[in-house]
Amino acid sequence: MSAGSTMNVIMDVDTGVDDAMALAMAVASPEIDLVGVTTVAGNVSLVQATSNTLRVLDYLEASRIPVYRGMSRPLSRDHFDAVHFHGTDGLGGAPIPVSHRSQEPMTAPEFIVQTARESNGDLNLVCVGPLTNLAVALSLEPDLPRLVSRLVIMGGAFTVAGNATPWAEFNIAVDPEAARIVADSDLNATWIGLDVTHQTSLYRDEWDKITDDSGPAGTLVREVCRYSFTERGDQNMHLHDPLAVGVLLQPGLVTSEAGPVMVDTSLSSSAGMARLIRSEGGQNSAEVALSVRSTEFRSLFGGLLGVPIHDHESG
Ligand code: RIB
Ligand code: CA
Repeated sequence: MSAGSTMNVIMDVDTGVDDAMALAMAVASPEIDLVGVTTVAGNVSLVQATSNTLRVLDYLEASRIPVYRGMSRPLSRDHFDAVHFHGTDGLGGAPIPVSHRSQEPMTAPEFIVQTARESNGDLNLVCVGPLTNLAVALSLEPDLPRLVSRLVIMGGAFTVAGNATPWAEFNIAVDPEAARIVADSDLNATWIGLDVTHQTSLYRDEWDKITDDSGPAGTLVREVCRYSFTERGDQNMHLHDPLAVGVLLQPGLVTSEAGPVMVDTSLSSSAGMARLIRSEGGQNSAEVALSVRSTEFRSLFGGLLGVPIHDHESG
């Protein structure tokens, strides 16, 4: 990417609290042209995720960005949500006005395929929810890997415990079959799992310092995190989805290992477990992030969103 040019990006989201902050980063970054946002059932229902995405983009004064509704349930399993963490509305009860615009008539997978064909290799995908939409898009267009420049996935727990089960991270646990289709494809994927996102937090004392004149992005962060910091008393908020956007912008934020990713699609308790099969390049070779420059990422996050970040031990 030459200086001054922008990256064409589609974000696939299940808007939720951290999805909202990731959207704010993409909207704020001068290096990203967010050509559209696709929604999927995950943290909350598809209808709620779509409504939340429209609300967040409007609140960020980005109503120009179209939203496309995707799959309302995983490929073959029952959907389970994460409202216990994100609140029943998925945005921590943030007082963000309801949007008066609707999603586009085209479905999310169709939009991904159409945009990829039109961009002819100049399209970047950031997937921060279950991978159902992307799996369907691959079925619609098997040539998608050739048409997509980069794919960054927030998903997996490769060397650490999961957060949906002891083995599986939520996005992969909700739809293991979709994740396996993506992992088995030739998409040039970078996987951002809990291995690194658990090292990148926003802390309560930083949240306390977000002022009223922080602008829409900073105020959005303050309002969507309020439930977690004040109702639940959390002392930090893992910036899972924002890190995926950070890695798209600055790939050097993480150190990765290459190899095929294996996803457990059994019906056992380890369903959704993702593992790196260490090898060099070759078929279905992905990059799995295993360490992160947390201070640099948090500085990027704070700089883009107007959130006061200061030194913390574990980043
Ligand atoms: O495990 C964290 C991931 O699951 C994040 O993308 C969060 O928004 C949920 O979708
Ligand atoms: Ca998400």
